[in-house]
Amino acid sequence: MEVGGTLTPGSGDRRFESCPSTVQPAMTKWTEGVLAVVIVLAFGLSMQLFVGDTPPTGGPTTTVPDSEPDPAAAERGETVANSVGCLLCHTVDGTDGTGPTFKGLFGASRPLEGGGFVTADDAYLVNSIVDPGSQVVEGFANVMPADFGEALSDDQISDLVEFIKSLS
Ligand code: HEC
Repeated sequence: MEVGGTLTPGSGDRRFESCPSTVQPAMTKWTEGVLAVVIVLAFGLSMQLFVGDTPPTGGPTTTVPDSEPDPAAAERGETVANSVGCLLCHTVDGTDGTGPTFKGLFGASRPLEGGGFVTADDAYLVNSIVDPGSQVVEGFANVMPADFGEALSDDQISDLVEFIKSLS
């Protein structure tokens, strides 16, 4: 049984070596076929890029989260903000506490310690939550806990952002 098994691939090898001339043209056709497919794909891709560039700019990755309010997510975010203690330092009524109020924050121009301003967009809010020490708001101490990025899931963080956006 075992001998028969080892013989089969051996004879297959011999057949393959004996007729390289018939294999060669077949290979060429095959390569041509692949080349044609690659060309078609490349053409299609470049058309897509070309078409994708024509509408007004603004990559879908950055504009989508900004565009539509999500009341359900905002509600979940409020629950998170209560349960993890955001609202011990941040108010929603426009008065500053240990930290700046969340009211009217989204879209506002924020003055930073060390100079400069930054617009409070999605990216700024996320960064303020996961790495609060990197952009400290002028007039406030750098006392916000720095471990929310590890303690909270990505979903919880985006819900918090929706919550803050709902207060703008
Ligand atoms: C111990 C108090 C404290 C807690 C708790 C806290 N923060 Fe803060 N937070 C601050 C302070 C102080 C600042 C301003 C200094 C800075 O930018 O780091 C701040 C800044 C911010 C900013 C930027 C505000 C602005 O006006 O530009 C955001 C957004 C923010 N916090 C969100 C949160 C969220 C969401 C939570 C809960 C997950 C949270 N914070 C928990 C104290 C706190």
